[in-house]
Amino acid sequence: MVASEINTGKSYDRLDWQGGYLSQPNEYNYSVENIEGEIPPELEGTLFRNGPGLLDIGGVSIRHPFDGDGMVSAITFQGGRVHYQNRFVGTEGYLQEKAEGKAMYRGVFGTQKPGGWLSNIFDTKLKNIANTNIIYWGGKLLALWEAASPYRLNPATLETIGLDDLDGILDTNEAFSAHPRIDPDPLTLVNFALKPGLSTKINLYEIDPSGKLTRRHSHTVPGFSFIHDFAITPNYAIFFQNPVSFNPFPFLLGLRGAGECVQYQPGQPTKIILIGRDGSRDSMKILETPSGFVFHHANAFETPDGKIVIDSVCYENLPQVEPEIDYKDVDFDKLSPGQLWRFRVDLTASKVERELLEGRCCEFPTLNPEKVGRDYRYLYIGAAHDQTGNAPLQAVLKIDLETGSRQLHSFAPKGYISEPLFVPRAGSHDEDDGWVLLLVYDAKYHRSDVVILDAKNIEGKPVAIVHLDHHIPYGLHGSWTPQVFL
Ligand code: CO
Repeated sequence: MVASEINTGKSYDRLDWQGGYLSQPNEYNYSVENIEGEIPPELEGTLFRNGPGLLDIGGVSIRHPFDGDGMVSAITFQGGRVHYQNRFVGTEGYLQEKAEGKAMYRGVFGTQKPGGWLSNIFDTKLKNIANTNIIYWGGKLLALWEAASPYRLNPATLETIGLDDLDGILDTNEAFSAHPRIDPDPLTLVNFALKPGLSTKINLYEIDPSGKLTRRHSHTVPGFSFIHDFAITPNYAIFFQNPVSFNPFPFLLGLRGAGECVQYQPGQPTKIILIGRDGSRDSMKILETPSGFVFHHANAFETPDGKIVIDSVCYENLPQVEPEIDYKDVDFDKLSPGQLWRFRVDLTASKVERELLEGRCCEFPTLNPEKVGRDYRYLYIGAAHDQTGNAPLQAVLKIDLETGSRQLHSFAPKGYISEPLFVPRAGSHDEDDGWVLLLVYDAKYHRSDVVILDAKNIEGKPVAIVHLDHHIPYGLHGSWTPQVFL
């Protein structure tokens, strides 16, 4: 037992946790030699990760990690060997600020240019930081950020090619969300883009594996929206419109970032928006459920009796850091934890029922890609070490939705995890035949590990732990592709 546990009774130590929020300004490219265990030879492909690489600009701390410049990692598995490479996305803003050595843009989550409010007033120009997700689709590697177009990278070198309009699918610098969903049958990338305002325009896109647009339609819903993610079934695209309002004045006056002007409206219902994927005009339906805030959905599916089930990570309110507090000093105990809920939508009766599936603090769900939009049995999700309370994510939880049984693999007290990803074994038939891959920040050595867990037995000893030579700051999202680009 470490001193921090004796002192606080907690599974984590704040100073340890803060280490994962130090900038990583270096770009690496090396074959990893420090490996515990054996890399399964049949695990072949590339794990791409994206997230903020710089948590300060010119030595001045950014206001929120969501404002950090995107840094992409490619971890390549081939023949039992591992290669690591990372690069910053060469966005216009990153290159400008690197040249100047100071912040030139305001961040959506409150990072300001130096010089106080006078330097920031009426500057509504946003920096596309391309830091939220990274996918390989239609022969292109794309770094995604929800408020602008993707940046395309070279998958072998991670060099930035430039802003990409997906061969004309997007208008110049049109938004494209960072949370595409891949429908396994027929294999299709489904994504959305939001144009928020007094009402919200939702664009939906479906793109085949060659990169060709197969469907596009737009819908308008009443009210301002802050929608980060969505879910799909074979027939529906599903959005949760969180009960929030937007007061633009502190942003326009240079006092706050736009994201800080989103205000949670307690007591107002969350709206569940279902849009028919076929795009027919009368296909949109809106239902209400009790108040809550959702960033991420785990999955959705249609039941044989015509109901629609959606599993989502819900917060009692929008987890925001007080304007005067550094995010690294946030009081975890004062924020409500994310918890996993199941919503059952009955369109015929216009009714929604909800049920708490998992009360443990959790975030970043993943599942077998063959089960996206389908009834499924196994969910894997980042979780806190302890059963109750709000805390940093230090564990992976596997939930058997059929039997209710749980398996937990905790990296506490020194390990802090990022989003887990399930990778199926090629040719597998069992839903949980594969691996759970994740990055774990090890505060003891101030470095990150790539950990491979056996998805059938995540409680067991990891299949392999790949020790990197350095740390990777806590990331956001990533993806797996069976391709090798080296
Ligand atoms: Co997200």
